[in-house]
Amino acid sequence: MKLGRLNHVGVATPDLDAAIAFWRETMGATVVTAPFDMPEQGVRVCFVDTPQHGTQIELLSPLSDESPIAAFLVRNPQGGQHHLAFEVPDIDEAHEWFTAQHKRILGPIRIGAHGTPVFFVHPKDMNGVLTEIMETPAHG
Ligand code: CO
Repeated sequence: MKLGRLNHVGVATPDLDAAIAFWRETMGATVVTAPFDMPEQGVRVCFVDTPQHGTQIELLSPLSDESPIAAFLVRNPQGGQHHLAFEVPDIDEAHEWFTAQHKRILGPIRIGAHGTPVFFVHPKDMNGVLTEIMETPAHG
């Protein structure tokens, strides 16, 4: 597998509106996408754009107490850095690559917030970093 672009950094937050205000007012972000729900993953999501290479901050808030983000917020009440998401050209090839190295993959390959297939690799097998692998979206 060849490592691709850092697409986004996932950041959990207990309050999406407050987090958006922080990124606009404190961090000077000018482009923030409208929040939308991803019910299968139990999250409400929006993206903060950064310039140049276009790496984004993915703000994640829980839709319910069963959300994985709700569990994260129990351990980190303020929210915080949740995962890193890297692009790969071929999701099936990447899945085989991590599986062959006995990395624990969390759940099935699914459609992520950018509309391309993604999977997550367990932080305990990734030097402590929950890692999202996503197929490269068509960059417009
Ligand atoms: Co993500």
